[in-house]
Order: sequence, then C-alpha cells, then structure tokens
Amino acid sequence: MAKIVSFSNQKGGVGKTTSCVNISAQVANKGKKVLMIDMDPQGNATSGLGISKSKIKNTIYDVIIGRADAKDAIIKTKFKNLSVIPATIDLAGAELELYELDDLDENTNFTKIALDSVKDAYDYIFIDCPPSLGMLTVKALSVSDGIVIPMQCEFYSLEGMSQLLNTVKKIRQIYNPNLQIVGMLLTMYNGRLTLTNQVVAELRKYYSELLFKVPISRTVRLSEAPGYGEPICYHDPYGKGALEYAAVSKELMLRI
Ligand SMILES: Nc1ncnc2c1ncn2[C@@H]1O[C@H](COP(=O)(O)OP(=O)(O)OP(=O)(O)O)[C@@H](O)[C@H]1O
Ligand SMILES: [Mg+2]
Repeated sequence: MAKIVSFSNQKGGVGKTTSCVNISAQVANKGKKVLMIDMDPQGNATSGLGISKSKIKNTIYDVIIGRADAKDAIIKTKFKNLSVIPATIDLAGAELELYELDDLDENTNFTKIALDSVKDAYDYIFIDCPPSLGMLTVKALSVSDGIVIPMQCEFYSLEGMSQLLNTVKKIRQIYNPNLQIVGMLLTMYNGRLTLTNQVVAELRKYYSELLFKVPISRTVRLSEAPGYGEPICYHDPYGKGALEYAAVSKELMLRI
C-alpha cells in the first residue's frame, strides 16, 4: 500500500516542485514504484518530467471533481518506475468548485476514493502542492500520510512556518489525524552566507528533529534540469544536486 506524501509550503518559489520531482524520480530509480501527482495549476511538475501537452487526456482536475478515474489520468513517464497524474491550468478553477463541492467528508472525497483505487500499485505517491493553503492544499493534506516542507534559508521562512504548522494541526483535528510531518527540507542552501547560517541555527533550535540532515545546495544544474524535462538523477547523475537529493530520498524512505 502506497504511502502518500505531500510537498507543501504556502510560500512560493521555495523548491516544492524541484524537490517533489527529484525525490519522486530518485525513489523510483531506486526500485520503488512511484506515482507523482501534480496538484498545482502551474503544471511545473508535469513539464519538469517532460510530459507534453499532447499526451494529456485527463488531469488531476478531472479526478478531483469525480469526472475521471485515477487510472485513466495516469501517464507513464520515460523514467524508471515513475508515473504521473498531470495538471494543467484548468485546475485553477477547481479551488472555487471545491468550496462548493464541500466533499472532504470520508465518503465523498473524490481524491481519496481515486487514490484508494490505485494505492496498491505503488510504494509511494508524492503530491506537488501549489503555493497557498487553499482548497487544493487542504485536499492534498487530507489524503496524505505525511508532509514534507521545503523551505529556503530566509527570515520570512521562519515567519511562515508557524502558520503552516497551524494548518497541519487543523487538518489533523478536522480531516486526517494521521498526518505526519516527515521533515523540513532546506533548499537553495548556500553555507557561505551569514544569513543562511543564522536561519539554520534558528531552525535547529526549534525544529531540530524535523530537519532533514542534508540540505539541498543552490546549483545551476537543478534549475536547468526542468528545461530538459529531466529529473536531476538523469540530467546530472553525479553532480551535487543529484547526490543531495539521493541522500534526502534515502532519509525520507526511512522516515515514512
Ligand atoms: N537547489 C536549487 N538550486 C538552484 N535553483 C533552484 C533550486 N531549487 C529550485 N530552484 C529554482 O528555483 C525556482 C523555484 O523552485 P520551485 O519551482 O521548485 O519552487 P516551488 O516552491 O515549487 O514554486 P511555486 O511556489 O511557484 O510552486 C525554480 O526556478 C527552480 O528551478
Ligand atoms: Mg511549484
């Protein structure tokens, strides 16, 4: 039975998609069966895996509103053991519809029903969330076993964290008591910056056991890989980015 893990942080541009795509590919490459779900209307995770628009018939939007079965939205990627449910801009309209649908109840949560129907075929299902705490994120967290919180080493990261942890608390109370914080992942790390070290020290003080041991460095290779439609473990397998994401993937699999 697959473990479902959401990559979420309401702050934009902190490395959610980069982490979700690269950890998905790495875990799959290591022999686990992985389904990556793109839950962001921007569709960055979809294009980051080289999925062309012409291949897409159904998207996560069709699944969320109960118009398509999960299995009819799954696309096999060219990467080992890795499949994806894509997103396109039509998902942007879903936020509103989801409020009206009010379907987070166990029996009518289409996302949960859909994922339950394919859970057996995978070891992990990784969900890339949009940069908000809106309905799409709530929906993703309501069906997840765990959340990974990617974050940059900036002052504002600390400010947003209490809000995010509050949301996790609320989701546990209302929808999903089993939601586990798998870890916080430092991204775009540059250990030579004083600010980075100050923020890391602060994070260690409050969240030491939650931080993944290895931070992800800022590297050009990681930022260029999506342009080639390739995860880093294929684009630059021996580079720093690939090695660091490999270490984080290993730790993640031990944690959940
Ligand atoms: N370790 C890294 N080194 C260099 N560039 C990075 C790294 N991680 C992410 N980036 C780049 O930073 C930008 C933001 O990353 P990403 O899209 O993963 O963030 P996000 O949190 O998913 O953003 P959004 O909130 O818009 O969904 C992208 O251009 C990405 O290529
Ligand atoms: Mg993203």
